Amino acid sequence: MITGSFPNSRPRRSRKNMWSRDMVRENSLSVNDLIWPLFVQEGDNQATAVSSMPGVKRMSIDLIVERAAEAKELGIPAIAIFPQTPEDLKTDEGYEGVNPENLICRTVRAIKSQVPDIGVICDVALDPYTTHGQDGLIKNGYVDNDLTLEALVNQAHIQTKAGCDILAPSDMMDGRVAAIRNMLEEKKFHNSQIMAYSAKYASAFYGPFREAVGSTSNLKGGKETYQMDPANTDEALREAGMDINEGADSIIVKPGMPYLDIIERITRELNFPTYAYQVSGEYAMIHAAAANGWLDLDKAMMESLLSFKRAGACGIWTYFAPVVAKKINQQ
Ligand code: PBG
Repeated sequence: MITGSFPNSRPRRSRKNMWSRDMVRENSLSVNDLIWPLFVQEGDNQATAVSSMPGVKRMSIDLIVERAAEAKELGIPAIAIFPQTPEDLKTDEGYEGVNPENLICRTVRAIKSQVPDIGVICDVALDPYTTHGQDGLIKNGYVDNDLTLEALVNQAHIQTKAGCDILAPSDMMDGRVAAIRNMLEEKKFHNSQIMAYSAKYASAFYGPFREAVGSTSNLKGGKETYQMDPANTDEALREAGMDINEGADSIIVKPGMPYLDIIERITRELNFPTYAYQVSGEYAMIHAAAANGWLDLDKAMMESLLSFKRAGACGIWTYFAPVVAKKINQQ
């Protein structure tokens, strides 16, 4: 890096006018960078506010289809859907997750029939379906890896048959990307994508999400035996490397802002499409501070999203997606 010295070099020169700042800007946020996560519930014309996520509502399928149309209209390339499973359908084995008539599969079919040109992403993990709220199957008090793989493959299969474009395994079982990729090849779904949550940390920032999908009261204990230790960096690279080898098309780092260093290192060292997930807790924090008058909501939102682009992410999962898209489109 070559730098000049004062006064011949005055970095403030290029900052003086807006047109000049616009010219030298290194990173920018576009609508194409956004992935919009949505929560689905049963019913017709039903919407339930998620108290810890201002502006976010869980919606029945008919309203989710409207959101899909809205996303398309705004230019958001893809939406991700997460189900709230009725309590009476939850079991220890999470069978509802592999039911082809479950809420998620019905939602995917409805979206694909009415808004065919939007990317639909489905979560692959058992936590919305299990009585214990863990992402996998429990054997002798431990989330069993290989037993869970079988269930995940079946879940991925029914979601793909329903029309899902991108499977996003968020379960953190070892070998799940290979297992899902083998199934897709075998069943001739050669063009189904896998966006793997490669570096998903055992984080406190998922709290509001668990309220949204209704798994808070189910979950006993944490997810530390499969999600990553927040203290680790090298391990994130190994996880990402394994998922790439196993056939992932892109990877996710989650949460987002507390893990910008991980995004930066993965994109720099692996040169692979990497997405940031600005999770529910990050969204809640920004809103809570703004509600107290401590932060400017709009500015904090835009700055937080730009930070992911600066770190190297090629896109961001964010609950701010529709608001941001409108703002960008108006500029
Ligand atoms: C479930 C899943 C979680 C999130 C996405 N998929 C929660 C968890 O692992 O407990 C969190 C998303 C968010 O907080 O916004 N496997």
